[in-house]
Amino acid sequence: MAIDFKESKTRVNLMKAFAGESQARNRYTIAAEEAKKQGLFSVNQIFLFTADQERAHAERFYNLLKNLSGTTIEIAGGYPIDHFESVVDLLKAAKHNEMEEADDVYQAFGNEAKEEGFIEAASTFFQIAEIEAIHGRRFGKLAELLEQNKYFEKEANGEWMCLNCGHIYTGKMVPQVCPVCRYERGYFIPAEIAPYLGYDFVS
Ligand SMILES: [Fe+2]
Ligand SMILES: [Fe+2]
Repeated sequence: MAIDFKESKTRVNLMKAFAGESQARNRYTIAAEEAKKQGLFSVNQIFLFTADQERAHAERFYNLLKNLSGTTIEIAGGYPIDHFESVVDLLKAAKHNEMEEADDVYQAFGNEAKEEGFIEAASTFFQIAEIEAIHGRRFGKLAELLEQNKYFEKEANGEWMCLNCGHIYTGKMVPQVCPVCRYERGYFIPAEIAPYLGYDFVS
């Protein structure tokens, strides 16, 4: 028997996802400010870049609720408080939340939507879960590089890109300022991060 969308678990899950994505977006813009304060401009930009993608996810889930416009959906859920001063802790918390969405929450929501016969909602949950896993890996990699002091220096030669001007620096340690645009070293991202941002690192 077909389930009425108005009575479905899927509509509640979509609203929970909309709430979760909206909060993730705000948490990342707040985390971005903290990274900027600490001179990690590239981490600031990566948080903002990801925040925009969370907004797109929120919009997609919200659009799937369009038929219920004018009504209210009550939800109950737990949402994290990740107000850390350490950028590594902010990144680790973000990674944890992304992986939870990717591996547990959106899988469960996708399966429920499938059981209830809402195929478009189901595939959206599964598609966005894949993106969250990429977010999780990106935040995890950033945390690891910062924690191991490999973000600005390497044992062997490495490559970095200045996110302000695009200059690619090759060496063991990025200079204090970009040799081209003279922006602070915090604008450089290590080569390992570039593919997660869609940058072509081939000079
Ligand atoms: Fe998202
Ligand atoms: Fe995400």
